[in-house]
Amino acid sequence: MTDLLTSPYRLGDLELKNRVVMAPMTRSRAIGNVANELIATFYGQRAADAGLLLTEGTSPSPNGLGYPRIPGLFNAEQVRGWKLTTDAVHARGGRIFVQLMHTGRVGHVGNLPPGGRVLAPSVQALPDQKMWVDPDGNQPLTPAVEMTEADIETAIGEYVKSAELAIEAGFDGVELHGANGYLLEQFFSSTSNLRTDGWGGTLEKRARFVVEVARRSAAAIGGKRLGIRLSPYGVNGGMKVDPDVETAWPYLAGQMKEAGLVYIHVADHSAMGAPPVSASVKENIRKSFGGTIILAGGYDLASAESELVAKKGDLVAFGRPYLANATFLARAKAGEKLNAPDFATFYSPGAKGYTDYP
Ligand SMILES: Cc1cc2nc3c(=O)[nH]c(=O)nc-3n(C[C@H](O)[C@H](O)[C@H](O)COP(=O)(O)O)c2cc1C
Repeated sequence: MTDLLTSPYRLGDLELKNRVVMAPMTRSRAIGNVANELIATFYGQRAADAGLLLTEGTSPSPNGLGYPRIPGLFNAEQVRGWKLTTDAVHARGGRIFVQLMHTGRVGHVGNLPPGGRVLAPSVQALPDQKMWVDPDGNQPLTPAVEMTEADIETAIGEYVKSAELAIEAGFDGVELHGANGYLLEQFFSSTSNLRTDGWGGTLEKRARFVVEVARRSAAAIGGKRLGIRLSPYGVNGGMKVDPDVETAWPYLAGQMKEAGLVYIHVADHSAMGAPPVSASVKENIRKSFGGTIILAGGYDLASAESELVAKKGDLVAFGRPYLANATFLARAKAGEKLNAPDFATFYSPGAKGYTDYP
């Protein structure tokens, strides 16, 4: 039974055909950091199945392109590149938000364009973290530079401009990547933000960067077209579980309500080895936010439906199932055998393991 999951849902001004979301997935096919025809084919293949597609993490800044071959959204060529995707998706009746991801300290200067800088709220050694760089392979991260007040203002401006460019490129909205250890979370978490100025120290000051980005982006494109992804208990990118996790993330959810955002997307990566997100933090995020909640991490149709029935969330996102099955929902509903994802081609360039799953 998938009655709730397959029923329509109103998200802001958008009518979604069902409550199934494709989770954001970095696939490293954007040669030169520009989304291309191959990428448009990938999203187009999935547009008729899911109610809402979320793109792979896309950088609002040359400084946020820390991974190899990830797309950007800060210049005219990138807008034209993404237009191929939004056209392909809309032609099939789909809806798509772009995920804005600034990698911050999780990057290598070899992946950045000339003049790009690896930036972070605070300098911290991350000896265990590695980053792929073409053609050299895995490298230690480039030590980040601590952001000045001017760097912070610039970065906020880059998010806002990128959100505007997203609308110009035809996206239905924007998801701020506030999860998985990237720049927004680097500011918010007390384990990565060691500042003692106006941007760190107390919970309110740690939240300030995320709040400013959200507030000003909402002012630019409208809160109905803006969501945010969060990952309390996440440990990606050298993060540690915040000692304040149970109060901090519900507090941030309240701030996102004030900023007028349309959804919060809660990622639970326990299916990928992270500590599970507590039921209490999920419940308190939902209470303080009051708007749409997207749940993600390790779901199948049955577990997703039961979360919706229990009113834990409103929409459910699926990552790896969509990576390997363009029509995941249709196939799973029909009880067909699903393709297993091929890890070896997750981040390799080209169509193999991307647009050629049977
Ligand atoms: C290849 C791959 C790339 C991913 N890239 C991103 C990303 O760019 N942004 C993000 O927020 N999450 C990313 N994730 C996490 C997924 O969005 C999702 O939360 C995770 O896969 C768990 O959901 P699942 O069990 O349905 O796959 C990625 C996951 C995979 C497998």
